[in-house]
Amino acid sequence: MNAAILGTGHSYPEGILTNADLEKIVETSDEWITSRTGIKQRRKAAPGEYTSQFAARASQEAIKRAGIDPNEIDLILCATVTPDQILPSTACLIQAQLGANKAAAMDIVAACSGFLYGLSIANPMIRCGQVKYALVIGAELLTRYVDYTDRSTCVLFGDGAGAAILGPVEEGRGILAARIRSDGRYEEQLYAPGGGTKAGFTAETIARGDHFFKMKGNEVFKVAVRSMAEISRGVLCEAGLKTEDIDLFIPHQANQRITDAVSNALNVDESKVFSNIAQHGNTSSASIPIGLDECVESGRVKKDDVILMASFGGGFTWGAVAMRW
Ligand code: COA
Repeated sequence: MNAAILGTGHSYPEGILTNADLEKIVETSDEWITSRTGIKQRRKAAPGEYTSQFAARASQEAIKRAGIDPNEIDLILCATVTPDQILPSTACLIQAQLGANKAAAMDIVAACSGFLYGLSIANPMIRCGQVKYALVIGAELLTRYVDYTDRSTCVLFGDGAGAAILGPVEEGRGILAARIRSDGRYEEQLYAPGGGTKAGFTAETIARGDHFFKMKGNEVFKVAVRSMAEISRGVLCEAGLKTEDIDLFIPHQANQRITDAVSNALNVDESKVFSNIAQHGNTSSASIPIGLDECVESGRVKKDDVILMASFGGGFTWGAVAMRW
């Protein structure tokens, strides 16, 4: 058997933060943000809203589309770097909201690559029969950890959640190849140092803004392009596919220039490349499952289509998955 995505869903907060709104908060401009990133607006959760709510809504949609009962789910993996709370995992909190009472649930902390990490972990468990149905989620409220005095990061990130139900199908369909990698030596290129056991939440660390995301954008950019292209080539090769076989490429939505550079490096035609960065910015682990669901909803993905997904994020972490829909 292979593992395939049987249903998808996504959910966003209603609040919208436009480039014009950001112009009033930091010294920036719509022109700078649009030309350097492609972003025009992003969703922002309201006070009182939390990650698992959006994840649960996305999951309910995915479960409905897959035509299964929540009690048939054996495994729930929630990729997030913005959990509801430290304990229990956001996956357990989602499980309770769904009533998926027979599942094992846990979080994956792999930043923007988290959803592809989730697919890569669930895939062999389904193939060997240990798990029948897995729910893989990417869910983030990144705006909670954004420093709105730092113009180099605050324009990039947005909130949202995407989910997918994976289940067994006959060979030749579903996930054809999946690879994940990480390199912890790059910790300080993209990180949030506060709030853990090393520098817990104290008046001093909060005043210093240690809990906010910090990033060396230029460095991240270069390694992201190189790594996403390289791992995508590896996955295509393993699946016995050529670039021309790709019907749809869904890269992690970090920056339109990263998407363009990776697509060029892989020689994927622009018409086959998904992008919603203008409307949603970077939603980290949520961006790929949201993109996939938007493609399903709009009819852009059809039976037998070959889909390539690739991601890169803090850690560094990166990954790629090739599948036949
Ligand atoms: N508005 C206006 N000016 C800004 C700005 C903003 N929001 N943010 C930075 N600048 C300024 C900088 O201060 C700098 O000014 P200087 O030349 O006077 O020092 C100038 O713009 C260029 O900054 P630089 O960081 O070199 O810009 P860039 O072209 O690399 O774009 C990013 C910055 C963050 C958009 C880009 O590097 C990027 O997207 N990196 C990847 C980040 C990412 O996706 N991370 C998540 C990984 S999943």
